[in-house]
Amino acid sequence: MVWRESAKERAAVEAVKLVKDGFVLGIGAGSTVAYALREIARRIREEHINVLVISASSQTSQLARQYGIPLTSLEEHLHLDLDIDGADQIDKELNLIKGMGGALTREKIVASVSKTFVVVGDESKLTNTLGKNQPLPIEVLPFSLPFVMSEIKKIGGQPVLKKSSSGDSPFITDNGNYVLNADFGVIKNPWQLNRKLKSLPGVVETGLFLGMADMAIVGTERGIKILRKNQ
Ligand code: 5RP
Repeated sequence: MVWRESAKERAAVEAVKLVKDGFVLGIGAGSTVAYALREIARRIREEHINVLVISASSQTSQLARQYGIPLTSLEEHLHLDLDIDGADQIDKELNLIKGMGGALTREKIVASVSKTFVVVGDESKLTNTLGKNQPLPIEVLPFSLPFVMSEIKKIGGQPVLKKSSSGDSPFITDNGNYVLNADFGVIKNPWQLNRKLKSLPGVVETGLFLGMADMAIVGTERGIKILRKNQ
């Protein structure tokens, strides 16, 4: 699947065309948005656009700093013009599973305060049914771990604690929490599952982004596909 990297890059570059001078932007996390950051930096350098970025992860902030992209915060800007973020799965209604990078909570906050939320990815992210061959990331308070794991099993999920890149300790989110990747198989009713999970004490956020994305820009082997909400 060598084409996937260039497809991600194409999608990200297309999304950055939506950025206008003076925009306050949200940027999520992951390998696809890394291409978007590079393109934003190019437009700042070559087209002299002024933008401010609110980053959803420490890794994204680090990369933005390396590119010289100015960062801001929700304290200073609570209404964003545009959010660009990747996804792990995208269905036809633009409902998403996100969070395999572990930044789901901040990504959901940033998407929630953005006027327009554009999701970017390569075509392998498109699915007819969320959850097929894709676990659902869920951020949980460390103290609640045994309880939340047991409750997830009761509602049909198989939770696995996300490990750090070295593999010998739990992955810790930017918020100091754990992430469970829970396999639910095909998720027939994502809205209902999201409600059930969010009602569990200790669950901080789920990777189900439902009814949030306005547009998906998807890189294919040779081009791009644009999907719009309610199309
Ligand atoms: C991180 C995310 C990412 O957007 C998602 O995992 C997709 O990443 P990539 O662009 O590397 O495929 O939700 O929390």
